[in-house]
Amino acid sequence: MSAHGTRTRAHPVIAIDGPAGSGKSTVSRALSERLGVDRLDTGAMYRAVAWAALERGIEPTDRSAVAELARALTIGIGERVEADGTDITEAIRGPRVSRAVSAVAANPEVRTVLVQRQRQWVAERGGGIVEGRDIGSVVFPHADVKIYLTASVDERARRRPEEGADAVARRDRLDSTRTASPLGVADGARVIDTTDRPVEDIVEEVVAWL
Ligand code: DC
Repeated sequence: MSAHGTRTRAHPVIAIDGPAGSGKSTVSRALSERLGVDRLDTGAMYRAVAWAALERGIEPTDRSAVAELARALTIGIGERVEADGTDITEAIRGPRVSRAVSAVAANPEVRTVLVQRQRQWVAERGGGIVEGRDIGSVVFPHADVKIYLTASVDERARRRPEEGADAVARRDRLDSTRTASPLGVADGARVIDTTDRPVEDIVEEVVAWL
């Protein structure tokens, strides 16, 4: 439902936030299939900018250079992820990008550019399942359903073997303590602990809220 109690879009807007390894991608993929609604992985957009900065030898902490890069970069997010026509689906999951991405995501100008594209993506489709860190708090504060996923620290580290427990903890700390749109539980968000729950169970719980 919209803020006025009637839904005027073709599809609901479902906001899914949470730290690394909390199950956002698994849950949003399953929800997307269950509901026939497209899904947008906004973390992949921040990763695409981080990847492009590293490619061009731009320091991830160089705010104005990275903001300029974000404005100019064409990012395609679907089954595959593309930046200016290059397939970077696998490259953006590597440890180099994971290490650089929190600095890029802390850049307010980058956030402004990407948030605008995320809203446009949803507007073009008349709704969508959007996962990230600030979706329920900043990007879609009036989403039909807001979900905040969590899982135990051990379980989240287990789900990110290529990154490592220390790197995951560092990224979560940076993402939660930055000034620009820090990760947190949005007003009105329902918190779900995914540690020991099958994904189908979570999907049915969310569908019941629609
Ligand atoms: O979901 P992910 O781990 O692929 O996200 C990569 C990084 O991007 C994450 O460390 C924080 C940032 N991010 C963000 O700041 N805001 C979002 N909406 C999505 C991701």
